[in-house]
Amino acid sequence: MSPITSEPTLALYVHWPFCRSKCPYCDFNSHVRESIDQGRWRRALLAELDHHAALAPGRRLRSIFFGGGTPSLMDPATVAALIERAGRHWRLDPDAEITLEANPASVEAAKFAQLAAAGVNRVSLGVQSLDDAALRFLGRGHSAAEALAALDLARRHFPRFSFDLIYARPGQDEAAWERELARAAALAGGHLSAYQLAIEENTAFAGAWRRGELVLPPEERGARLYEITQALLAEAGMPAYEISNHARPGDECRHNLVYWQGGDYAGIGPGAHGRLTLAGRRVATRQHRAPEAWLAAVEAEGHATRERRALPAEERRDELLMMGLRLAAGIPRERFRDAAGCEIEDSIPPPRLRPLIEGGFLELDACGLRATPAGRQRLNAVLARLLG
Ligand SMILES: C[S@@+](CC[C@H](N)C(=O)[O-])C[C@H]1O[C@@H](n2cnc3c(N)ncnc32)[C@H](O)[C@@H]1O
Ligand code: SF4
Repeated sequence: MSPITSEPTLALYVHWPFCRSKCPYCDFNSHVRESIDQGRWRRALLAELDHHAALAPGRRLRSIFFGGGTPSLMDPATVAALIERAGRHWRLDPDAEITLEANPASVEAAKFAQLAAAGVNRVSLGVQSLDDAALRFLGRGHSAAEALAALDLARRHFPRFSFDLIYARPGQDEAAWERELARAAALAGGHLSAYQLAIEENTAFAGAWRRGELVLPPEERGARLYEITQALLAEAGMPAYEISNHARPGDECRHNLVYWQGGDYAGIGPGAHGRLTLAGRRVATRQHRAPEAWLAAVEAEGHATRERRALPAEERRDELLMMGLRLAAGIPRERFRDAAGCEIEDSIPPPRLRPLIEGGFLELDACGLRATPAGRQRLNAVLARLLG
């Protein structure tokens, strides 16, 4: 075997926890602050990167993902410094995918040019909708025209780009979503994420929903909107490769595939999670979530790791099932064997597996285990039955 193929691979996630304003539906680890000391944040993120690199040396780095929050609010010099430092710690693949999440309200041409010069080669834009009234409802700081301008900039500055949409909004019917999605598909650069609006605890929408001020489309309409999304984007050449993610074959987000395929990734920044294979054991890491406490801990100790533990075999298997069944391709037998140490049939009792296969929600064959389109549409219920 050549030394290149035997070098274990790694992905790197960097969390930037700040946004210009808090969207009423969002429960991500994102916060609004009057001012941010970019220099302190740069030094602290670099320190956590050094700490994780010491844990998992000698890797081939296949992707970096700057997520948030709104990483397009980062100083591009910080992005450049992190990419440069990561390339000193690990062997950065010449074709590594380097993605940054951007908010259409916080990008300008100059910033995109600097981010591209720093090494970012893919952006994921939080467009959310192409309709001004929907954008106001979602509490977004940008208009549809600004979203189109940001997409145009992304196309000019980066070889690859994606954008996010939120559907199944109150009052949205099938015809309106089909029109909006067809426009979006025509604007796409090979990758599109379409999320069904979810009411998350401790958000402004959760309060409005409980008071009856926000009414979601009934479940059956939500299901039809999901089916429209699958059919229209497949027709447009971007089939779903994951529940909410669509791509032209070959244009999938390679970084996110690492999560869904159970690969290794280091996670730095407030609240970031990581999964690292260390001395043959799968180790889970988690960083302190609150931004200021994270910063103070890193400045005092060089990192803000709050959890680092080896995952027991059963947890490792359950995690692989939860992540892998999100993918249209499912879980290959070999990957399952690696994680669980046995065959699928020997690991999951037949009374759990068989009804799901007979009901048309799962498929099991010589290649592996996968959820059918019907199974992916109600994956939480399928997993509840499968994992017991
Ligand atoms: C971290 S954000 C992306 C970048 C950036 N923060 C922005 O919003 O422009 C991740 C994406 O998750 C989706 N999302 C967040 N909360 C959601 C919810 N409650 N329901 C559906 N989609 C949601 C949005 O599409 C959002 O763009
Ligand atoms: S959706 Fe994006 S911009 Fe809005 S609060 Fe969440 S992370 Fe920030």
